[in-house]
Amino acid sequence: MIYNFDEDINRKNTNCEKHDALEKYFGHSDLQALWVADMDFKTPDFINDKIVEAAKTSVYGYSMQSDELFDSIINWQKTRHHWEVSKDEILMVNGVVPAYSAVVEAFCPNKEDEVIVQTPVYPPLFKCVQANERKVVVNELKENNGYYTMDLDDLESKITKNTKLLCLCSPHNPVGRVWNSEELEALADICIKHNITIVSDEIHSDLTFKKFIPLASINNKIANITLTLNSAGKTFNIAGLNTAYAISKNGDILKKFKKVVSKRQIHSINFFGYIATQAAYENGADFVDQLKEYIQENIKFTKNYLKINSQKVDFLEPEATYLLWLNFKETGLSHNEIKNILLTKSKVALNDGVSFGSNGYGYFRLNTAVNKERLQLALSKICNYF
Ligand SMILES: Cc1ncc(COP(=O)(O)O)c(C=O)c1O
Repeated sequence: MIYNFDEDINRKNTNCEKHDALEKYFGHSDLQALWVADMDFKTPDFINDKIVEAAKTSVYGYSMQSDELFDSIINWQKTRHHWEVSKDEILMVNGVVPAYSAVVEAFCPNKEDEVIVQTPVYPPLFKCVQANERKVVVNELKENNGYYTMDLDDLESKITKNTKLLCLCSPHNPVGRVWNSEELEALADICIKHNITIVSDEIHSDLTFKKFIPLASINNKIANITLTLNSAGKTFNIAGLNTAYAISKNGDILKKFKKVVSKRQIHSINFFGYIATQAAYENGADFVDQLKEYIQENIKFTKNYLKINSQKVDFLEPEATYLLWLNFKETGLSHNEIKNILLTKSKVALNDGVSFGSNGYGYFRLNTAVNKERLQLALSKICNYF
């Protein structure tokens, strides 16, 4: 089956945050929306059909987590990422972010406990720490011609007796890195040495353009300090169904996490979330392969378009995700000046780089999960002014 990612999808007036909340978040409603990390592609029919079939029962009572749901997760991790997990190592939760917040509570029980976060990074990964009234310790990524690496010397120098948790974003949003085994092992070695638990947010792991390695699949020692969070939400455009899962091979880690999950009551997933996740993982391999191809074409198109039409805006092609970390520094303008032009002249809504950390100054994140026509329109609006 061929999936048609060129189809024009109009999501306006569907209570959709990306397209319908522009006035609220940007103060302008007439923008082309290329911000929130969901896709302007249809959720595939092998998911829709199951949802419609379930809706036809016209009963939306409490649902249960079937063995088939767990099997679908286990098989997906095994076939796509060569990672063997078992049912008793998985816990369903209603979102990666709610789960992450619970992880912070579970592993940072004391007020003075610290969480290391590698910026620039998806904002809730530090905001949740602050909301839990725990200390964020920033370990900035190093940037060299658009290529980001971890600064492990800086990281180790920032570890104190209060450092309890390290947040790994793998693959990394927004810089698009797929961490390689050397990087992951070096990071994990430090955490093992200092008795730090790693929470590995792997929500973007399916949309990778080079080999992705689940952190906990590397070896038993690393698995023993890791709690992984994942979801079919990004890959299949079902994020609004609030269904995710946590995996840990360490029973004690899972037990600690479960206690907070149970306290916060975030393990009860909505009726359609189970159905969609299982359908996605049982039938989605071909869809993901085609989706990745389309996204890679969009990324290449953007690279070329900017090269020809703008000498001022550039990015390094990401190793994962449909998100581009656009560098506007060559414009010589201040961050606020760039932002103003994007909003009032180009009329596009991109994510503000500074929201990912102060080292996001001069950057804006562009979501390329749109059809080519809309992508070209957005790029022309940007290049008209930059
Ligand atoms: C790295 C990362 N983690 C988590 C999420 C959101 O996960 P969820 O919707 O399951 O809470 C996103 C969404 O953009 C993300 O980029």
